[in-house]
Amino acid sequence: MKQYLSLSLTLSLTIGWCGAAFAAGDAVNGAKLYQGKCAACHSFDENELGPRHRGVFNRKAGSVSDYSYSAAVKSSGVVWTEANLDKWLAGPEKLIPGQQMNVSVPSEQDRLDLIAYLKQEASKP
Ligand code: HEC
Repeated sequence: MKQYLSLSLTLSLTIGWCGAAFAAGDAVNGAKLYQGKCAACHSFDENELGPRHRGVFNRKAGSVSDYSYSAAVKSSGVVWTEANLDKWLAGPEKLIPGQQMNVSVPSEQDRLDLIAYLKQEASKP
């Protein structure tokens, strides 16, 4: 277990470091950002004020069955790809007018880091 943890840490750091060169996200920093900016309303396994995030990557917007979304999100037809998550976090109202998450992340690097973290965590079973 310890070995696994240090391997995954090394991998994250390596990916994070490469990120600097290729403008990809740093999931380690993304985890901190998630705690600070998202965890007040979201977790991976429980619906809070916002829907749970497990499996969100490449899923259709508004599809957690026991969460009560705005009609706007439910009928948006948006799929949570990297590009759409980036748009959503930059300005939810611009991507899906009428949505109810009035939180945005102005820094592009912060968005990339958050998306890298979401991609990593949300796809764990
Ligand atoms: C103040 C509470 C709040 C905060 C903070 C917040 N959200 Fe949300 N989030 C919501 C709500 C409410 C919805 C549902 C919006 C709707 O139905 O219109 C939502 C929806 C989402 C969705 C769509 C999920 C789906 O199943 O379709 C994503 C992705 C998301 N949030 C990501 C984030 C991320 C990443 C952060 C941190 C930067 C964040 N949210 C911060 C309240 C919040």
